[in-house]
Amino acid sequence: MTKILLTGASGNLGRVLTKGLHDKGYDLRLTDIAPHDSVPDGVEFIQADTADKDAMLAACKGMDGIAHFGAIAAESNFEDILESNIRGTYHIYEGARLNGARVVLATTNHTIGFHERTEHLTEDCHYRPDTYYGLSKAYGELLGRYYWDKHGVESALLRIGSCFEKPTEVRQLSTWLSFRDLVQLVDRCFAAPDLECSTFWGVSANDRAWWSDHARELIGYEPQDNAEAFKDDVPPVAADADPTTERYQGGAFTSDGYSRVEPSPGDLFRKAL
Ligand SMILES: NC(=O)c1ccc[n+]([C@@H]2O[C@H](COP(=O)([O-])OP(=O)(O)OC[C@H]3O[C@@H](n4cnc5c(N)ncnc54)[C@H](O)[C@@H]3O)[C@@H](O)[C@H]2O)c1
Repeated sequence: MTKILLTGASGNLGRVLTKGLHDKGYDLRLTDIAPHDSVPDGVEFIQADTADKDAMLAACKGMDGIAHFGAIAAESNFEDILESNIRGTYHIYEGARLNGARVVLATTNHTIGFHERTEHLTEDCHYRPDTYYGLSKAYGELLGRYYWDKHGVESALLRIGSCFEKPTEVRQLSTWLSFRDLVQLVDRCFAAPDLECSTFWGVSANDRAWWSDHARELIGYEPQDNAEAFKDDVPPVAADADPTTERYQGGAFTSDGYSRVEPSPGDLFRKAL
């Protein structure tokens, strides 16, 4: 599997993957709605919107694999998310179907963000999306499942935790994915002989991880980094930190716009009578 389309190539992870996958010898084609500041020599870059079906089908033409990272990567209004993330991911799956390509889909922990931090999750846990963003990625995961069952399109659904240079808050000591582990994980997904439709947690070998390490046994992912190395650099949780943020795995995405009225201890007591 050598010819790979990378969407979202101009973004933070896209630039890491442009270099990482190019260095590993993949024959890349890049696309993004925004310009790319470091296209390697000899690599094609197409500036296009994922919501443009014709442009996406043209970009997918002749590809063995698609690393789909192009998306609105945080909470936004529903209409924008609908165009970029929901419609855009559908276009990518149509491109994959028409070309027999394998998809590595950048999905997110925000598909399951309302699970409590005390839970240890396996990849088949219930969806508990915490934002329209998380919902759009859950839809992308279901597209992957549907295209496998109906059309035999293989997918790796990568539920990425927090992929940054280093962890910057206590939550990320559980959710962090280092850049080099990201590159290795995407490479393993394209190199695996059989993938079917598999969900993997995009996380480094963190001591405090909340998620199973399914990818190790299935595709030989061997994460090199552990967020614990940064524990002394991360500020402690503030005494007045938002309780919703601190309670759930999705962190601040769960408390963003949160309007649910929690029952008071008195209400719970009266209900129990
Ligand atoms: N960085 C993380 O910790 C993290 C965690 C979970 C999931 N992800 C996912 O990984 C992917 C990359 O994230 P990132 O952190 O690099 O974000 P980013 O915002 O830096 O990159 C996203 C890229 O997608 C492009 N894009 C957005 N809308 C588009 C559209 N309609 N058409 C074409 N391109 C479009 C943007 O221009 C940008 O270059 C996203 O799909 C994101 O949801 C990232």
